Amino acid sequence: MPNGLTILDVRDRVHQAQSVTVLTGAGISADSGVPTFRGADGLWKNFRPEELASPEAFARDPQLVWEWYNWRRELLATKRPNAAHEALVQLERLIPDFWVITQNVDGLHAAAGTQNLSEIHGNIWKVRCTQCHSIRPNHDVHLPFPPSCANCGGLLRPHIVWFGESLATEDLEQSYAALQRCDILLIIGTSGVVYPAASFASVAKDHGAFVVEMNMEATPNSSVMDVAFQGRAKELVPLLL
Ligand code: OAD
Repeated sequence: MPNGLTILDVRDRVHQAQSVTVLTGAGISADSGVPTFRGADGLWKNFRPEELASPEAFARDPQLVWEWYNWRRELLATKRPNAAHEALVQLERLIPDFWVITQNVDGLHAAAGTQNLSEIHGNIWKVRCTQCHSIRPNHDVHLPFPPSCANCGGLLRPHIVWFGESLATEDLEQSYAALQRCDILLIIGTSGVVYPAASFASVAKDHGAFVVEMNMEATPNSSVMDVAFQGRAKELVPLLL
C-alpha cells in the first residue's frame, strides 16, 4: 500500500465512521457468477454492451435488444447474493448513516437485504412502457416478443438507464447527497469508465471523504484513491466486519 494502510486499518476507520457510502459495479456480482461487462465472458454474440444498451439500438431492433435482456434474465435468475453483498448488509446495521449506490441492475443488493440503496442504472426485473411510461416489476425469465403493456398495449422496454440517457433525478440527488456527506467512500468492483459513476470518487474526495477501492485489478480511478486493495470482493469486503 502506498500509504501503508492495511485492510484492518480501513476496517477500524469504517467502524468509527458516522457516514459511509458504497459504490458498486459488476465486480461485486462476479463472485455470484454474474459476468462483468468488460470481460470476454460478458459479451453476447460478440456484441459490446454499448451496441445493445442504447435507445438507438432499441429503436433499430427491439427484438435483438430483448433477446440480450432475456439472455441476461435467464442467467441472473439462478444467481444469489454472495459474501460481499451480505457483508454490506451487516455494515448497514452497524453504521449510523450508510448508503449503497450500485450500477448493477441485477437486484442482488436488495435480495441480500440492503435497505438504503440507489440502483442508478435501473433494475433488470422491472419493465417500462415506451408509450405510457408506467413502470412495473416483472420476473418472467423469458419475455415473449413483443412484450406489451398491461395498461395501454404499448411496447415494453427494460427499466434500465441506457447509454446516452440521463439517470433518474431522485437517484442522482440521493447519490450526490450520500457522496457529499460521507466520511468514507468504498468503491467495489467497478472499472470506473462509465459516467457519472466514474466521477463519484472525485466528488466524495472533494468533500473530504477517505476513498477506498476494492477491485481485482488497478483501474483508471486507482490513483485518486486514498487506498486501493486488489482482490475478490467476496474475500475483501467481509474483512471490514
Ligand atoms: P465492468 O465490467 O466495466 O467492470 C467490472 C470491474 O470489476 C472490473 O474493474 C474488474 O476488474 C472488477 N472485478 C471483476 N471481478 C471481480 C471480483 N470478483 N471482485 C472485485 N472486482 C472484480 O462493470 P461496471 O464498472 O459495473 O451499464 O460497468 C459500468 C456500467 O457499464 C454497467 O452498469 C453497465 C455497463 O455498460 C448499463 O448497463 C447501463
